[in-house]
Amino acid sequence: MDSSDGRRLSVSLVEVMPGREAEFLTISTDFEALMVRKEYGRAEMIRDEAHPMRFYAVRYWTDATAAERCHRDTEVHAITAQLYQIARVTHLVNGVRRNAPIRLLLDERRARVEADRRTGLDRRVKDVGRPEGDRRAHRERRIGPRRVRDGGDIDLVGAARRARERADAAFSHFKVGAALEAVDGTVITGCNIENATYGLTMCAERVALYKALSEGHRAFTRIAIVADTEAPTPPCGACRQILWEFGGNLEIQLANLNEEKGTHQLKNLLPLPFDARLL
Ligand code: THU
Repeated sequence: MDSSDGRRLSVSLVEVMPGREAEFLTISTDFEALMVRKEYGRAEMIRDEAHPMRFYAVRYWTDATAAERCHRDTEVHAITAQLYQIARVTHLVNGVRRNAPIRLLLDERRARVEADRRTGLDRRVKDVGRPEGDRRAHRERRIGPRRVRDGGDIDLVGAARRARERADAAFSHFKVGAALEAVDGTVITGCNIENATYGLTMCAERVALYKALSEGHRAFTRIAIVADTEAPTPPCGACRQILWEFGGNLEIQLANLNEEKGTHQLKNLLPLPFDARLL
């Protein structure tokens, strides 16, 4: 019997590597059983008749809470990790995106800042990232109110722009912000953090991804990347590799401070990728 209310469903495109179909079917059967056993809802794999190794993984969630429990379930993470080794996964429909307000991952300090802002305190920060050449250098900026939604959808670019303001780019003065969306709608942000030895610098995208992983998120849909450049700033090679390994074929939104500069699929930015499927 269908335990879901039929309204909340998620769909992923699963492109299985040649020769791995039997493993894939075992993984799917395990996952379908787990969905029912833990009362998350129901899952089914629909084969694309035109492309035999292409499947649509459909999850019908019991409700939003069940979906969130599933996304945090370590048994599910283990199955997902197996799947990523034999297939390329693209999230197509996200049936558990929250309506309002979206959850941003905040550390305790930022949570306090938020609380202060709500009580009307005027908090200012110094922009240390661009000591020269930035029109905003040498003066303090006010952090504006948080606007996480744009036209009813999650404002991922806005979240990346705000994250960029926290970049620590004292050496390159090139500040980057990223906002990564997990399948449950949580948005996890990151900014680049540079280092006196230069080589230990961490890009905004990987900061966001590692924060997300360490908080228990294991599946992602999109990432927005923002820099103050006329031409879009695409992720570097290292970030493409890491995003691919943990996020699959993510949608990548590029933007600067004023406008959006296009959307890409990660598989097009990283053709012929090396990943665990080849080990
Ligand atoms: N950077 C990012 O954070 N993300 C990118 O996509 C490109 C580069 C950072 C790394 C370094 O701190 C600065 O930008 C200049 O390379």
